[in-house]
Amino acid sequence: MKYNCYITGFGFHVPEKIMTNHDFEHLVDTSDEWITSRTGIKQRHISAGQTCSDLAYQASLQALKEALITPQELTHIIMATFTPDTYLPNAACVLLEKLKHSNIAVMDINTACTGFVSGLEIARGLCAISSKANVLLVASEVLTSRVNFDDRSTCVLFGDGAGAAVISSTCSPAHNMAGSLVDVCLKADGALGELLTVKGGGSAYPLTLGQPVGENFFVQMEGREVFKHAVRSMYNVSLEILENNSVRPQDVSLVVPHQANIRIIDALAKKMNLDSSRIFVNVQKYGNTSAASVPIALAEARESGKIRAGDLVLLVAFGGGFTWGAALVRF
Ligand code: ACO
Repeated sequence: MKYNCYITGFGFHVPEKIMTNHDFEHLVDTSDEWITSRTGIKQRHISAGQTCSDLAYQASLQALKEALITPQELTHIIMATFTPDTYLPNAACVLLEKLKHSNIAVMDINTACTGFVSGLEIARGLCAISSKANVLLVASEVLTSRVNFDDRSTCVLFGDGAGAAVISSTCSPAHNMAGSLVDVCLKADGALGELLTVKGGGSAYPLTLGQPVGENFFVQMEGREVFKHAVRSMYNVSLEILENNSVRPQDVSLVVPHQANIRIIDALAKKMNLDSSRIFVNVQKYGNTSAASVPIALAEARESGKIRAGDLVLLVAFGGGFTWGAALVRF
């Protein structure tokens, strides 16, 4: 027997500290005008010492509260991140301890900005095989720990934050505006890996004691190439998931895309022939929070009343690797 898959709780958390575009004018050779016109970003939230699991914990508490369960009722934790607190233990174990729970299955996954959508695919598999699954899916990033603040071409793009969802095989009328996960479609192409990297510290570029940290330790990106692939891949995977489910683009109530750059989002909307009212944008407030970007946007869209009962919502993301994917959720 195959069980259903519902998103019963949503939450997000960002650090209090804000860095505006004007703050960057004192750090690197840039301007508010350049950043706004090229990216749509006006500010981003920056960790003032909070770790990946700290942000994840706050987002998780909100999602658990809305899902009407305690941490001890969770059966699994999936943490999507490429900026964990530490390499060992993984961030999911650290979060598990913060939630005062143990003896369940937890894992970190890293598909960069696609992390939340990838986690949905795992969560739906877990729900399908158990009538008692309560999966906490958290995407949390402290990207500023991997950003070179001397590199103007990358440092202005990223922010820190976490988004969480509780995904269960059962749902009750007490769950206000739960979403039913209709489908997930995931893709990857390793040939594009060099376009967006954080190489240092892995086994290909190991650290040695006393070695200074070089540029390899930070996000490095071929911005223009990433831009082109981002638009193409998000468009193609959106069409594929709609076609697989016999849904027309006009039947989608809201698209919640990865928030990397307003120009990427606008290009996607244009290709899909979507009116701007049907595409959710909050990149101006948070910048690119990688894996956390889609669940933060989803939670905020829901909170602000942009999603109503009966709506079909399309989530779509792309990230380093390259990875990309889409999910359909019926509210
Ligand atoms: N301020 C001022 N000038 C800048 C800045 C800055 N912050 N950054 C770059 N420039 C300059 C460049 O040096 C270049 O100058 P030059 O012409 O004298 O050489 C000029 O601006 C144009 O640079 P481009 O890189 O061609 O600018 P572009 O219009 O492509 O915009 C951007 C750059 C915003 C990075 C864009 O390419 C983009 O958004 N790409 C996609 C990035 C993205 O989405 N990444 C997320 C990946 S998701 C993940 O997995 C983490």
